Amino acid sequence: MSSFGLDIWGDDNFIIEDGKVLINYGNRASLLEITRDIRERGYRGPILFRFPHIIERQISKLYNNFQATIEEFNYQGSFYAVFPLKVNQFPNFLQPLIEVSKKYNYGLEAGSKAELIIAISSTPLGSPITVNGFKDREMIGLCFIASKMGHFITITIEGLEELESIIEVSREFNRDTKSSISPQIGMRIRLHSTGIGVWAKSGGYSSKFGLTSTELLEAYELLERNSMLELFSMIHFHIGSQMGEISPLKKALREAGNIYAELKKRGATSLNSINIGGGLAVEYAQHNSARERNYSLKEFANDVIFLMQEISKNKGVPQPDIFTESGRYISASHSLLVAPVLELFSQDYQEKSLRLKKVNPPLVQELYELFISISRSNAREYLHDGLDHLESLLTLFDLGYIDLEDRSNAEILVNLIIKKSIVLLKDDEGDELKRLQNSIKEKYLVNFSLFQSLPDFWGLAQKFPIMPLDKLNIKPSRPATIWDITCDSDGEIEFNPNLPLHLHDIDVTEEEYFLGFFLTGAYQEVLGMRHNLFTHPTEAIVDFNEDGEYYIRDIIEAQSLIDVLDDLDYDTNSIEKSLKDRIENSKLIDKREKDEILGKLYLYLSENSYLKTIQSLKENL
Ligand SMILES: Cc1ncc(COP(=O)(O)O)c(C=O)c1O
Repeated sequence: MSSFGLDIWGDDNFIIEDGKVLINYGNRASLLEITRDIRERGYRGPILFRFPHIIERQISKLYNNFQATIEEFNYQGSFYAVFPLKVNQFPNFLQPLIEVSKKYNYGLEAGSKAELIIAISSTPLGSPITVNGFKDREMIGLCFIASKMGHFITITIEGLEELESIIEVSREFNRDTKSSISPQIGMRIRLHSTGIGVWAKSGGYSSKFGLTSTELLEAYELLERNSMLELFSMIHFHIGSQMGEISPLKKALREAGNIYAELKKRGATSLNSINIGGGLAVEYAQHNSARERNYSLKEFANDVIFLMQEISKNKGVPQPDIFTESGRYISASHSLLVAPVLELFSQDYQEKSLRLKKVNPPLVQELYELFISISRSNAREYLHDGLDHLESLLTLFDLGYIDLEDRSNAEILVNLIIKKSIVLLKDDEGDELKRLQNSIKEKYLVNFSLFQSLPDFWGLAQKFPIMPLDKLNIKPSRPATIWDITCDSDGEIEFNPNLPLHLHDIDVTEEEYFLGFFLTGAYQEVLGMRHNLFTHPTEAIVDFNEDGEYYIRDIIEAQSLIDVLDDLDYDTNSIEKSLKDRIENSKLIDKREKDEILGKLYLYLSENSYLKTIQSLKENL
């Protein structure tokens, strides 16, 4: 029985029962059952599952924790939250997010013009919108249009020039109106506190963003001189995503809290909020030794509210409203990729593949004896003998004394001896066994693209939990390396003896075996690359009705081959024409065959790039 670390990363979203992964919601459907349901409708290849109920769960946990802390501390400010669009802009994520979050007054954060269009067209009026990143006059103009629509929108300025542009755009937009309508202004501060981990450079003095204290004072004076100080309502910071430890946040809160209080005392009467950005971490670890987060959401909320209250009381200023822009925490757990295993590459290292002769070379014969008589008490000795014999046999092969069949028998037998000894010696300590796991690791070819579906693994070595959807009542025995179907050697999740992933020994010509790649809902989708022209996989939105039964709300099929080429601006009409002409003019194709071949070609063009079959399978995987 193995749980693949579900108790560490699963957050009660899934449970294991009868060897299967079940959704811990409604009628507790199994992921395997839903996968089969979708495949029976004709969809093949990897499937990205989305679960709106998990989005709602994350949003409600965020609000409930902060609300409870505010009440507990009798905090005077309010709590606001926005979802940063950069983390996931896909409509099939965003529409459910907007639906389920209405009752929370949840808003959106935008970092580009396109994101701003999404934000101002879909955020309910009255819910907050924050706008970060570098902006030109046009983008600032869009913010003014949004405020004239009635949106509660705050532009965060990243540099002094932006503030000058805001002043100019404000004159343009409010020329003819008696009472001016403008967005609120926030200032991103350049803290000396830095974050921790891969994304720490979002904070600190050398960060790309934010105003130094000198620039902050200049910005303040600029607003004052232009009679716009009443628009200055927020200070903002963000010390980096996936903040694994709480201490950098505490430091940043103290620094930002004091900047807020100083500005209040200086006369920033409208300043009423601190935006603490994102960074709330997600636990991706499958092993206790690799945990990525040392705090809970409750501790996070306690620290924010306590420190802001303490600083405000000490400095005699009103307690500010708190804004958060947590993205990863809200979206990571809502989706997972399910992909079929297509092949196991060392399937041949099995007893049935041996080609033993009537008379074998003595060392091969001895390997066979070792294999059949290995036991707990002699395992280590037999293992060493086996490894030693293999070295000698490979030398004998190089010198021409044994043939290819003997060599193949030797390799299979030693592989089998290593596997047996690892099982027999599993309670023993020592690096030797860890090292040996590497020599028997199995390569699982999986129908997905790592570049498209887990780009942060490729770019930043970010780990994602991986587990099979069934057989969880059988102990998996094979150290697993995962290969994707791109023809790039980087498309691999290599077996790591320190954080081992073991999968089951299966024959994929006999049975299906699906892997789930979990917590893929933050950043992965839009960062996903079309390397080798593998596209965003087929998506399925899984919801539950009032009786708790699951239903597939929507399926969006991966792009067809022709659409992928169209996206790259190929002239697909001329591609289709060229293919057709080549078939019609080919002297190698019989006249009667041409229509059939053309029909097949059109069918293939209408399908997606993921594999349908790879070997003579009983069923198409
Ligand atoms: C300004 C800002 N806010 C919020 C976020 C979201 O961070 P996270 O996804 O870690 O919550 C980011 C991401 O880097 C950011 O730059």
